Amino acid sequence: MQPNSQSIIAIVPAAGVGSRMQADRPKQYLTIQSQTILEHTVYKLLSHSQVSKVIVAISDGDPYFPKLGISQNPDVIRVEGGSERADSVLSALNYVQQHELGEWVMVHDAARPCVQLSDVDKLISESIVHPVGGILASPVRDTMKRGISQRSPSNQGAQSIDTTVDRVNLWHALTPQMFRSQALHNALAEALEHQVAITDEASAMEWKGHSPLLVTGRSDNFKITQPEDLALAEFYLSQNKEEQ
Ligand code: CTP
Ligand code: MG
Repeated sequence: MQPNSQSIIAIVPAAGVGSRMQADRPKQYLTIQSQTILEHTVYKLLSHSQVSKVIVAISDGDPYFPKLGISQNPDVIRVEGGSERADSVLSALNYVQQHELGEWVMVHDAARPCVQLSDVDKLISESIVHPVGGILASPVRDTMKRGISQRSPSNQGAQSIDTTVDRVNLWHALTPQMFRSQALHNALAEALEHQVAITDEASAMEWKGHSPLLVTGRSDNFKITQPEDLALAEFYLSQNKEEQ
């Protein structure tokens, strides 16, 4: 099959509580330009010609999701999220395996609505011909420091600089992250069984000894994390609308 005709299942973990956002609801349900962040993300992925279905991992008893239009969309499948992001992704992968939905999956954070289709294209075309798969990532641009705890009774948690870390080979790991569904399922399930700390899909694959490809992506594909990120996301989403 040609790389540009293979259909891909998107997995969107959306079962977090968004504690750092300090909002009155989980951040994926905050509204930007009359749509929730989750809807922006899901519609963006569905608008890619190779994405056939989006599996969203939603917390049990979540009162917000059923009120959204996407909950009635036949191309959007809801599965139950778990206590950590990796558990939510594994829950979606279980569904993909049980229903034999597809060979390849791409996992994308609900909280990254600003991803551009050109970056998704690049990720697909470079990952699908790679033996392991790949992730969008952006090179670190600032000088990097490793901190060391300071003993200061007045400012607990304060750190001072221990050393400068060479940033030449450092990358920010973004999403989507694209792997074969079976391989990712096995890696994540085993890593969780062994209680390995897994913060993204690539780290589960790395733990299994694989070396996923780093695909240079745009730095505006950031994860909405803190209150000040909302205005920036709103700005990029309004720009994207004009471009896409
Ligand atoms: N996520 C998930 N299941 C969890 C935890 C997180 O599906 N148990 C999802 C979030 O909804 C989000 C993505 O994983 O789309 C990235 O996680 P993060 O940005 O850390 O979101 P939260 O965990 O919700 O935020 P915070 O860490 O600030 O509480
Ligand atoms: Mg979190």
